Amino acid sequence: MRPVRIAVVVGSTREGRVGDAFALWVAEVAGARGDCAVDVLDLAGFDFPAHYPRQPTAEVRRFAERIGRADGFVVVTPEYNRSFPASLKQAIDFAYDEWHAKPAGFVSYGYRSAGLHAVEQLRSVFTELHVMTVRNTVGFDLGDADPLDTEARRLAAAAMLDQLVWWACALREARGLRPYVT
Ligand SMILES: Cc1cc2nc3c(=O)[nH]c(=O)nc-3n(C[C@H](O)[C@H](O)[C@H](O)COP(=O)(O)O)c2cc1C
Repeated sequence: MRPVRIAVVVGSTREGRVGDAFALWVAEVAGARGDCAVDVLDLAGFDFPAHYPRQPTAEVRRFAERIGRADGFVVVTPEYNRSFPASLKQAIDFAYDEWHAKPAGFVSYGYRSAGLHAVEQLRSVFTELHVMTVRNTVGFDLGDADPLDTEARRLAAAAMLDQLVWWACALREARGLRPYVT
């Protein structure tokens, strides 16, 4: 099987953020499987306009093209006030067709909730964009002593990525057979 192209979207752009560590961790886990070609898409690396532009800027186009190249997504999100951060919503809204008929899995983090409130809201947003969100997620409680270093997290990531790769393969094949309907 040709590897599926998975974009790992780093949702927080906060100064001093912790999210990049979770993103690099899941990118490494996905890359080691052999069936994923991973592209880390760090929103902090894009110079997005402060106001939604009348015409897409070069940076907006560059982001949308990276989304368009992917067969599926791992969205890495913190929880901010029971939701996901504005930086992530801004970026999601800068692409449209490029998201269609592709799957997304989630890696979330926060205190106690492990970011699950953010994930539930993202599922609703992605429904509008014709994105298939996979059932299993990976959640990190920032109150844990060493949240990354557990066998449970590795198993959770394997389950989420198994589902993501299945859908990415199935939908890549389907998109190749006939155009998606919106
Ligand atoms: C504006 C803001 C709101 C937050 N709200 C929540 C929240 O509702 N639930 C939660 O578990 N953590 C909340 N936190 C704590 C974050 O989960 C924690 O700061 C985390 O490190 C943020 O991710 P980042 O460092 O990658 O930006 C909030 C943090 C910020 C900055």
